[in-house]
Amino acid sequence: MAILIDRIGELTTNDPEAGRLRDAAIVLDGTRVAWVGPSRDAPAADERLDVEGRAVLPGWVDSHTHLVFAGDRTAEFEARMSGNPYTAGGIAVTVAATRAASDEHLAANLRKHVEEARRQGTTCLETKTGYGLSVVDEVRSARIAAEVVDEVTFLGAHLVPPGTDAESYVDLVCGEMLDAVKGLVRWVDVFCEEGAFDEAQSERVLLAAAERGLSVRVHGNQLGPGPGVQLAVRHDAASVDHCTYLTDADVDALASSDTVATLLPACDLSTRQPLAPARRLLDAGATVALATNANPGSSYTTSMAFCVATAVLQMRMSVEEAVWAATAGGARALRRTDVGFIRPGARACLQVLDAPSVTHLAYRPGVPLTRAIVLNGVHRMF
Ligand code: NIG
Repeated sequence: MAILIDRIGELTTNDPEAGRLRDAAIVLDGTRVAWVGPSRDAPAADERLDVEGRAVLPGWVDSHTHLVFAGDRTAEFEARMSGNPYTAGGIAVTVAATRAASDEHLAANLRKHVEEARRQGTTCLETKTGYGLSVVDEVRSARIAAEVVDEVTFLGAHLVPPGTDAESYVDLVCGEMLDAVKGLVRWVDVFCEEGAFDEAQSERVLLAAAERGLSVRVHGNQLGPGPGVQLAVRHDAASVDHCTYLTDADVDALASSDTVATLLPACDLSTRQPLAPARRLLDAGATVALATNANPGSSYTTSMAFCVATAVLQMRMSVEEAVWAATAGGARALRRTDVGFIRPGARACLQVLDAPSVTHLAYRPGVPLTRAIVLNGVHRMF
């Protein structure tokens, strides 16, 4: 069935040829975009949705979340707001709660957060394992994630479980654990950071992934400068995420690579770190994505709009750069060409704002502006 979305006041396509259109229309045919152009030239369709001058843009592509979890870390957050530093040690608290939870509880919690994200305009979402940290718990996390989200990442190398020898744990991750999850995931990630996995251990994880034909991404340079960015670039990771502490050499390496710098401003704020240097990256020519890093410890939000507003108001990204980073940038961080754009052939995944332009995302921060989404051709009003 063809649907005409008509009377779009401002259409962000992310397509360099089409650019941003005014008084535009889109035709969706089933799960794909079939036509984009001026309203006056729109072809007939089976159904017509009049958006009355509102702004339309691709649905958010949230390329970094950790949503297979149980439990709550409000106390840790309160302690942090009173001056305690974030150390990532709280991951172990979520691991204990996740291991103790039933499959049904984990799946329901994941679905609840994905629905929360959908209502805020996210139409493509990645999530990670990483709160299981045993073969059985990582496999069930991957299985539950694969039933619910678009992209699944294995993050067995999130933290060495307390009381475990680090080298033996890396052996387990690179062998039995990876073999057990490999049919359920597309990506393998490693938290390369002091207190998590060092460069040599992280490199072993990336090599073990590549040996099994899996693509890689890296958590790096979150809590201080470190080898994560260079390691990610050397291994052609699709993305290195956090990038809060970057040297000039890190910025140059990213700028001359296909590795996306995925910035997580909600996490930087919630952990009281400086905001990642978006301007330096963009000015050097690196590709930047924005994502929520939704998780119960360091960044408990599913709001991509909040990340976009922060990027504009505090990281000196333009509205255009921030919207691109949260849509096409996220798609690039997931090496996807079917989402993050509105052009013929793309997936019919988009959002309608209750605003005349995307500028309102930063001009009206904190206001829930997503009025409707189209998810694989199916539209929902909020
Ligand atoms: O991306 N950096 C490591 N992992 C998560 C934190 C998870 C947690 O604190 O539970 C992150 O910030």
